[in-house]
Amino acid sequence: MSETGFATPFAARFELRVPVVQAPMVGGATSPAMVAAVSNAGGFGFLAAAALSPEKIASDVAAIRALTDRPFGVNLFVLEAAAPDNTTVRRALAAIEPLRAEFDLPPGQPLERYAPDFRVQLDTLIELRVPVASFTFGLLAAHDVARLHANGIYVIGTATHVAEGVAWRDAGADAIVAQGAEAGGHRGTFIGAFEDALVGTMTLVPQLVDATGLPVLAAGGIMDGRGIAAALALGAQAAALGTAFLTCHESGIPQIYKSRVRASSDTSTSVTRAITGRHARGIRNPLMLRLTETLDHVAPYPVQNALTQELRQTAGRAGNGDYLSLWSGQGAALGRQRAEGLGAAELVARLDAEWRAAASRIAALQR
Ligand SMILES: Cc1cc2nc3c(=O)[nH]c(=O)nc-3n(C[C@H](O)[C@H](O)[C@H](O)COP(=O)(O)O)c2cc1C
Repeated sequence: MSETGFATPFAARFELRVPVVQAPMVGGATSPAMVAAVSNAGGFGFLAAAALSPEKIASDVAAIRALTDRPFGVNLFVLEAAAPDNTTVRRALAAIEPLRAEFDLPPGQPLERYAPDFRVQLDTLIELRVPVASFTFGLLAAHDVARLHANGIYVIGTATHVAEGVAWRDAGADAIVAQGAEAGGHRGTFIGAFEDALVGTMTLVPQLVDATGLPVLAAGGIMDGRGIAAALALGAQAAALGTAFLTCHESGIPQIYKSRVRASSDTSTSVTRAITGRHARGIRNPLMLRLTETLDHVAPYPVQNALTQELRQTAGRAGNGDYLSLWSGQGAALGRQRAEGLGAAELVARLDAEWRAAASRIAALQR
């Protein structure tokens, strides 16, 4: 490790100057401006594309390419098409209705489609020949990974425990995101029960490094240079930070959401499936608590997600943080050390200085 660089194979491959990946975050946080700013600053930016139509993916990728010629990634959810039965949908709608009424929204209705078509999104990434594609919620078949490779795309799979990392390696993935239990947002778990897969970043990273032999990117609870130095010490080749970038200037989430993240503490979050039908970590608020009271009405993802969406968007437009989904990690409070509305490039620069200082402090302990 030199004074001005660092040398992991992942960093060398993508010419990173800073061992920081800006993690993909659905919901408008990871705008093209943010992705490009992070990549231009020597980190690695990721566009969250799971909720986007193929046309929007294409226009966002074009926007990123207009702002940077450096590598970036695009992230998708591996999902089967949802075909919920009518009873499941009606039960979910009945539980959501009182909350909608508080915002003068009429009773919700079953939808034509509950999520964009994953196969079409995947084809779009291939047509666009994005530099890196990452996936969560499931596993790609080996022939899909081979198709991505044949089009020059580097493939990253998300794992919340060792068996998932090994499954991705066996499917041909190039690298693994180790998503520890501290992480904000949806759990990527796709093998076994979510409760058994709440493995902390500290224990998950070295076990995935040892088991897969692939480059591992550490995600979950990393907010500053101390966390990055720790992740590198555990064998990660870079640190992936979500919550730290959530409150940045370029993040497109509502201001009230940013304020709630900055005001939260280490115990402010819970993991729940009440809001979207899939377990996710977020700051507790009335939306989470009220939907938890009717947990047996909750439809599976992506149905519940789509059925609560209009309510959450309406709350967001009204500046109401009580009925938004406030996805956030357990380290959020560590972000308060930074000025409000910091730009993503400035955050990358500070993280770079901080992890080098942390590494020097550790080196000094040996004397
Ligand atoms: C608001 C929010 C949205 C997220 N959306 C996605 C997503 O679309 N795809 C994904 O793979 N991970 C998603 N995640 C997880 C992040 O990519 C990453 O694993 C996590 O933020 C790391 O933990 P941290 O929040 O403690 O930094 C999301 C996280 C947050 C906070």
